[in-house]
Parts: sequence; structure tokens; C-alpha cells
Amino acid sequence: MSTPSAVAVTLVQGDITRQSVDAIVNAANSSLLGGGGVDGAIHRRGGPEILAACRELRASQYGKGLRTGQAVATTAGKLDARWVVHTVGPVWSRTEDRTALLESCYREALRVAAELGARTVAFPAISTGIYGWPMDDGARTAVRTVLAEAAAPIEEVRFVLFDAHAHREFERALTAARN
Ligand code: APR
Repeated sequence: MSTPSAVAVTLVQGDITRQSVDAIVNAANSSLLGGGGVDGAIHRRGGPEILAACRELRASQYGKGLRTGQAVATTAGKLDARWVVHTVGPVWSRTEDRTALLESCYREALRVAAELGARTVAFPAISTGIYGWPMDDGARTAVRTVLAEAAAPIEEVRFVLFDAHAHREFERALTAARN
């Protein structure tokens, strides 16, 4: 029986770009140069500083872009956060089980945030939008990985769900994981 994590895991329905936390996790793509969904919202509300920082990453250690399952931090620009942690989720596949890659997104984003000293981290439901991952499975994977991996200095992990369906699936997953 693993000792219960000292990290509070919370759920909120809302817009991740309006959260006041230390680190906001972005559901990016490998180009790191923006997109739709969460990615578009973060760049829109966070401002050009974030894209400029992403461009610097592409011009240096991420010349080929960010691989699926990896995570890297930049400034949060105008967002009420200290950092954005960009991670690239796997695209849903009917024929290939890419769960390990989705787990890696949560694990690596937590590692990067913890290394920066973040105490509060907001996650979207990675891969469950444009990348087509079923919400129930995406929620179970997210909750299982965060409960297993989140550790000090992180004190709160907040899942920010964009709609009632997502919130319901995360609530189910969190209740099941805790019983
Ligand atoms: N706040 C919180 N959640 C949001 C927001 C927001 N502002 N906007 C969208 N979401 C939700 C979606 O409803 C979905 O449940 O975030 C989840 C992830 O959806 P996407 O943002 O589409 O991310 P993903 O499925 O991982 O696809 C990534 O989409 O935006 C592009 O550049 C991105 O190519 C990448 C791909």
C-alpha cells in the first residue's frame, strides 16, 4: 500500500489560462510553435513572450522539436503563473496502445515543474481534444499517474476540465483511484 501522497489533487471546470498557479501545463505539439485548443489559448492569453521562448528552444536544444511524452518549461508571459510546462501528448490510436506515452506527459511535466520549485501545477486533459483520446481513459491515465508521481515541492495538482463531461470523467477516475 503506497503511502498517501501529501499532494492535493483537485478538479475544477474552467479555462486553464485563468488559473493562478506556479505552473500551467500546455497540451502542445512537437513544433512548440502553437496550435489550437489549450495551446492556442495559452499563446493567445499568455502573449508573444511564450512563443519567443519556444522559438529559442527550437533554435537550441530542441532543434527537431519536442518528442511525444517529453516536457519543457518556458516563461508564462502574461498568464498568472510563473511557468508554462509544454508537453506533447500522443495521438489516439485504435491499433496501438500509446498509454505509456500519455503517462510520460504527466510524469515529465511533474518532474520539470518540481525541478523549478513549483508548488501548484494545473493540467489540462492532455490528448483528449484534437488528439482524440477517449476522455474516460485519458482521465484514468492522468489521475493514476499524478497520484503515483506527484511529490514535493509540489503541494497541489489541479486538473482544469473544459466541460462538464470531462469534469465528470475525472471525478469518476479520482473517486475510483481513492477507493
Ligand atoms: N482550458 C482547459 N482545457 C481546455 C481549454 C482551455 N482553455 N481548451 C481546450 N481544452 C480541453 C479540450 O476540451 C480537451 O479536453 O483540453 C483538452 C485537450 O485538448 P487540446 O487542446 O485539443 O489538446 P490535445 O488533444 O492534446 O491536442 C494537441 O492540439 O491545440 C493543438 O497544438 C496542439 O497540435 C496540438 C494538439
